[in-house]
This record gives sequence, structure tokens and C-alpha cells, in this order.
Amino acid sequence: MLIAPSILAADFGYLKNEIDKVINAGADLLHIDIMDGQFVPNISLGIPVMEAINTYADLPKDVHLMIKNPENFIVKFIDLGADYITIHPEATNQLEYCLELIKNNGAKAGIALNPETSLDVVLPYLPKIDLLLFMTINPGFGGQKFIHSVVEKMKEANRYRELHKLDHLLFEVDGGINEHTAKICAENKIDILVSGSTIFDSNDIEKTIENLKKTNC
Ligand code: DX5
Ligand code: ZN
Repeated sequence: MLIAPSILAADFGYLKNEIDKVINAGADLLHIDIMDGQFVPNISLGIPVMEAINTYADLPKDVHLMIKNPENFIVKFIDLGADYITIHPEATNQLEYCLELIKNNGAKAGIALNPETSLDVVLPYLPKIDLLLFMTINPGFGGQKFIHSVVEKMKEANRYRELHKLDHLLFEVDGGINEHTAKICAENKIDILVSGSTIFDSNDIEKTIENLKKTNC
């Protein structure tokens, strides 16, 4: 599995150092959580910080937009270096248009599913997107517990991916990832693990990333 440290859990006083640390420790992507205080009850970081990160972080940037009306900001984040843009279907009434904006501007398109959102909502879009993100916490804050009921949805999505031969489609999990829950994800053919607090709170980031990566069934 690929590992995407979520910088939401980094020490923002030393953000460049924190990002350098995870890059040197073998991270595969950088997960960047953008919140607006409306779609989720928290505000994280925004455009100036993304711009700064783009000047020094030479790693694919996985931008998770937890904002209302993401269509207003998609192009901006791609201009600032986003390689993946993931949006929430509940945040827009122009989902199709958002996906087109992402693809037409050269980034990879992802859809995030909240723990309570059914897979049915996104089935028609799966052939056109690059990434399906399973939220295993309610979005807004790091450090929460993995919601186990989402595993059933992962299994259902795996059956769908196989049946429809959607080999291009990556599955990503975000929320409450540690060595134990990483194993559950590996068993359910997840391709990318997002991890914030487990990585940034660790005393040995290299070992932690290696352990998460090596997790297999
Ligand atoms: C929360 C964010 C997550 C968060 C995960 O809304 O989407 O990426 O940083 O944090 P942990 O790994 O601590 O659950
Ligand atoms: Zn996230």
C-alpha cells in the first residue's frame, strides 16, 4: 500500500521540517486537508500554505477538499500543485462539472464517501474517476477512531471494481489508521492509506511508515 501522511497532524510551527521528515521517511504522497468551517466544523489551511508547500515538497500532492462549492477552488489548487483533488458529493450540486474541471486541468479526480454515505451515490461516477476515498471517521478532525462499519462498503466496492474491471480506480482510506486498522485495509485491497496522528505523533516516523506500508494480509 502507498502511504499518504496527512499534514493536518503536523506541527504547523515547523511545517517544512515536518514535511521533509515524512518525505525522507518514505511517504508516497502528501495528503493535504482543506477545510472551510462550513462543510466541516473546522478550518485547517488554505491557499497561501498550499502555495508554500508547493515550493519545496517534491511529492505527489493529494488534496482533500472539505469545502462547500469546491468548483470555485479546484483550478486554483491544481495551479498550486495538486496532483489529486478529492471532493465530497454532498458539498456541491455540480459534481459532474467538478470532475470535468479536475480532469480537464490535468489532475486526477477523487470522490470521498463519508462513513454514512452509501456507495450507490457514486456508482455512476466510478468509471470516470481515479480515486475513491473511504472516510473511516467523520471529516473535520484528526485523531478519531476508525469506524468499522465502513469495511462492509469497502468489500462492496471491491466486488464492483472487480465485476466492472475498473482496474484504473484506486481505493484510499482516511481516518483512524494505525497498524491494526491498516491490516484491515490491506485485507480489503485498499491502495492508499492516509495517516495523520499515527505518523506525526510517532517517535520513529520511518519505522511507522515502513510498518504501515508492509502491512499485508
Ligand atoms: C480529517 C482528515 C484526515 C485526518 C486523518 O477530516 O480528512 O485526513 O487528518 O487523521 P488521523 O490519521 O489522525 O485519523
Ligand atoms: Zn483527509
